[in-house]
Amino acid sequence: MSNIVILTGAGISAESGIETFRAETGLWAQHRVEDVATPEGFLRDPKLVVDFYNERRAQAAGATPNTAHEALARLEAAHRGDVLVVTQNVDDLHERGGTKNLIHMHGALNSALCGACDHRWPAPMQMAAGDTCPACSAPMARPDIVWFGEMPYQMDRIFTALGNADIFAAIGTSGNVYPAAGFVAEAARAGAHTLEINLEPSAVGSQFNEALLGPATQTVTTWVDEILSAG
Ligand code: OAD
Repeated sequence: MSNIVILTGAGISAESGIETFRAETGLWAQHRVEDVATPEGFLRDPKLVVDFYNERRAQAAGATPNTAHEALARLEAAHRGDVLVVTQNVDDLHERGGTKNLIHMHGALNSALCGACDHRWPAPMQMAAGDTCPACSAPMARPDIVWFGEMPYQMDRIFTALGNADIFAAIGTSGNVYPAAGFVAEAARAGAHTLEINLEPSAVGSQFNEALLGPATQTVTTWVDEILSAG
C-alpha cells in the first residue's frame, strides 16, 4: 500500500481556461508581482490587489474541472494507500473535481481573511478595499491568499506527508517558488519515487526520477490509470 503526495500548480488548471503565472502571456507578464502579490503592495493600493483577485475569482467561477482534476479524485477514491493533494492553486477546481484530501498551501480565492484578527469567512464574488470583518469589524478584509514574504499554510502537515511518501508527483508547476519547489528533494530524502508531470521540464526537473511530458489532461489520466491498474 503506497502513500502518494501530489503537488499541483497552475498547469493543471490551464486547460480549464485559467491563466498560468509564468507563461509568456501569463499573469506575471500582465501584472507586477510586487504590486498584487505582496503585503506591501496591498498596503500601498488595496483596491488594485482586491480587484486583481476579484478577476481571478470570476475566472475560476467560470471554469470547470478538467480530466486531470477528475483523475486525481478517482485516484484518491480507489487507491488503498493515502493520497494527499497539495495545491499551490487558489482556484477550487480540485474540490469541484471531487478531491477531498486537499491542502491549499497558497490560500484560496473563495476565502476572505481579516488582517486584524485572522478570522476567515467565505469571500463574496466581489470584495472591496476596506470591507469589514464580520467578527471584529476592522475594515481590513483581504483575499485569503499567501503572498510573497508570507508563510504558506499547513507546512507541518505537508512535511509529515512528504516524510511518509512512497510516490511524489509534481503536476503543472514551474518549480520557481519555494518552499513548494523544494518538496521533490524532501520526498527523495524520505525515499519516495519522484515524478514530474508537466508540459516541459521545470526549473527543478533534474531532481525527479522520472518525467511525463505533455498536457495534464492526457498525462495525468494516463498516470492515474497506470497506478490503479498496478493495484
Ligand atoms: P507557473 O505559471 O509558474 O508554471 C506553470 C507550469 O505549468 C509551467 O511549467 C508550464 O509549462 C506548465 N503547464 C502549462 N500548461 C500545462 C498543461 N496543460 N499541462 C501540464 N503542464 C502545463 O505556475 P506555478 O508553478 O503554479 O504563487 O506557480 C507557483 C506560484 O507562483 C503560484 O502559486 C503563485 C505564483 O506566483 C503566489 O501567487 C503566491
